[in-house]
Amino acid sequence: MVKAWYMDSDTNDQRLEHHRNPPQFIGLQDLYAITGVEYFNINVETYTTDGVLEKIKKDRGYTYEDEITCSKDSLPNYEEKIKSFYEEHLHTDEEIRLVLDGSGYFDVRDGDDQWIRIAVSAGDMIVIPSGIYHRFTLDTNNFIHAKRFFIGEPVWLPYNRPADDMPARQDYLHKLKEGFVAA
Ligand SMILES: [Fe+2]
Repeated sequence: MVKAWYMDSDTNDQRLEHHRNPPQFIGLQDLYAITGVEYFNINVETYTTDGVLEKIKKDRGYTYEDEITCSKDSLPNYEEKIKSFYEEHLHTDEEIRLVLDGSGYFDVRDGDDQWIRIAVSAGDMIVIPSGIYHRFTLDTNNFIHAKRFFIGEPVWLPYNRPADDMPARQDYLHKLKEGFVAA
């Protein structure tokens, strides 16, 4: 089950939990309200037949999907690669991931530019809105297997911060100001 918390500012290993002292957790509804990040719980044992994922895909127009694995064995230059995932960036489209096995952290900025760490593991599906600054890291398990989804032809291009003038960023800031409304 997904958990989210505000991060400390320690710059040691990105794969550690980076809790504040004392820990400061955020519930899923609050996470949505303050960042627009959406969450779905998927049963990884039954998702191919239970219809839950199919309905989400249909409702949201996800027409493309593939699977990725990140691990020391599957990624050449693993240490460099995970540092590149950890560069703060945004996209012009949603970033949608369903974790099938393993685990990792998606970090997103809140409206006050504080980092929120979202711990994902099997069954967690998250939708990171376009225009939000974020980054990803493996955790100390160094393994994740996930599905990626996209509306139409996939574009995985990251725009590293600063990207404040991009329309996707401006749209996101507008939604943040107006308040996120459940889809
Ligand atoms: Fe991203």
